[in-house]
Amino acid sequence: MNDRDSEDIAAQFIERGWEITEDETQADVAVVNTCAVREQAELKAIGKLGHLIWLRKPIDADFPIVGAVGCMAQNRGADLVKLMPDIDFVAGTRQTHRIAEIAIDIFNKRKAGIGHPKLPKGAKRTPKTSAAAVDISDNLQSHLYINKHLPAPSSKRACAFISIMQGCQMNCSYCIVPKVRGKQRSRPLEDIVSEAKRLADSGVKEITLLGQVVNAFGRDSENAKDPAAFTRLLRAINDIDGIERIRFTSPHPSYFGDDLINAYAELPKLCEYVHLPMQSGSDTILKAMRRPYKISSFLKIIDKLRDRKPNISISTDVIVGYPNETDTDFEQTRQAFKTAGFDMAFIFKYSPRMGTESARLPDSVPEEVKEMRNQILLGDLAEQSMRYHDKFIGTTQEVLVESAAKRGENLFMGRTRTHRKAIFRASPDDIAKLVNVKINSITVTALEGEIV
Ligand code: 5AD
Ligand code: SF4
Repeated sequence: MNDRDSEDIAAQFIERGWEITEDETQADVAVVNTCAVREQAELKAIGKLGHLIWLRKPIDADFPIVGAVGCMAQNRGADLVKLMPDIDFVAGTRQTHRIAEIAIDIFNKRKAGIGHPKLPKGAKRTPKTSAAAVDISDNLQSHLYINKHLPAPSSKRACAFISIMQGCQMNCSYCIVPKVRGKQRSRPLEDIVSEAKRLADSGVKEITLLGQVVNAFGRDSENAKDPAAFTRLLRAINDIDGIERIRFTSPHPSYFGDDLINAYAELPKLCEYVHLPMQSGSDTILKAMRRPYKISSFLKIIDKLRDRKPNISISTDVIVGYPNETDTDFEQTRQAFKTAGFDMAFIFKYSPRMGTESARLPDSVPEEVKEMRNQILLGDLAEQSMRYHDKFIGTTQEVLVESAAKRGENLFMGRTRTHRKAIFRASPDDIAKLVNVKINSITVTALEGEIV
């Protein structure tokens, strides 16, 4: 979702005649789109911001203009200015559609000599001598404006993301997202469909619909409880000429009704892949996490999906080391992980986030135990995903060619309908085309083969 927001921000600059540079030392403005979901992500963003501010010193005292946006910016607001008084702006999650406007205004003022007051040589800036602009105010309409895309490069663009909603209405005890992204706001269905049509007209073949709880689309409030809104949206996108593939992320088990499960059988463009966060395999921990489902009903969804689409690929998110997670709880997670047969997973060590419900509990599982549980699950995952990949050898897969691969000349990468990365020889003309690739070998992360 942050990638998508960043693309929208980049498109705002392009709309205003600016260019995007790959070389940060050349930038007049640098925007860091931050994440707050775990401590590690915050530390990374702070390090990056510090580095960009430091870039000014050897080159030019005034540029780049440096701004923090996104979830950590929202959560910390003016505290980021206390931490980094040289920063130029901090803008929250409800201001994403205004970032270029904010940054360019500061840039123009800075060029006219208006900005952070000059300091005597050697003096350190403090929040008092900082002119940083902070805007973390709410805007209940902000979700309507995340609809800008970068122009397609000279070769075509195969895939695009569409944000269909902002915010989250769940209250998972560990999660900072509802606090920093606000209540769920869905975009009007027609706006999303016309954005998808525009993308199809520009050559895009694959659309991924994005939301914190994407399958709660259209169910934002008591008086908007239309349980079929999401499948209606999927149907409408399925009807668009030119779109060949549809994906979405991330759904929540509580909203995964039979209509959505049946959509896999009914909609030919809906790909056989789902990322369905499980978080834990223990009912005790799920309850403590305020995830309103039992592991048996989670596994039932998986069963039904496999029944509709036997070759479906299923990935998940798991948190290990939630407060009071016992060895037995963890064993239940391992068991569920195996039963579900995930072939991909993101496994996270619990990280207390200030302002969440669970941050008030002692972070009781020692770091070494979290690390051990993390490693054990990663081991299980490696086995399961190798077994899954093995089944591809010798098969022919439909692949959508996305881009040149990072390694090797004439090598390109694309994905199967099951979201596996495939590497094969092709030419730039093949980008955004569906090709058939015969899979000859596998690695942990990719399938390798040739177009047939
Ligand atoms: N600690 C660890 N992992 C977390 N996630 C969300 N909050 C936390 C936290 N406090 C994980 C969840 C979620 C994914 C995006 O990040 O697994 O699905
Ligand atoms: Fe966070 Fe839960 Fe909302 Fe996902 S569903 S964003 S984990 S609160």
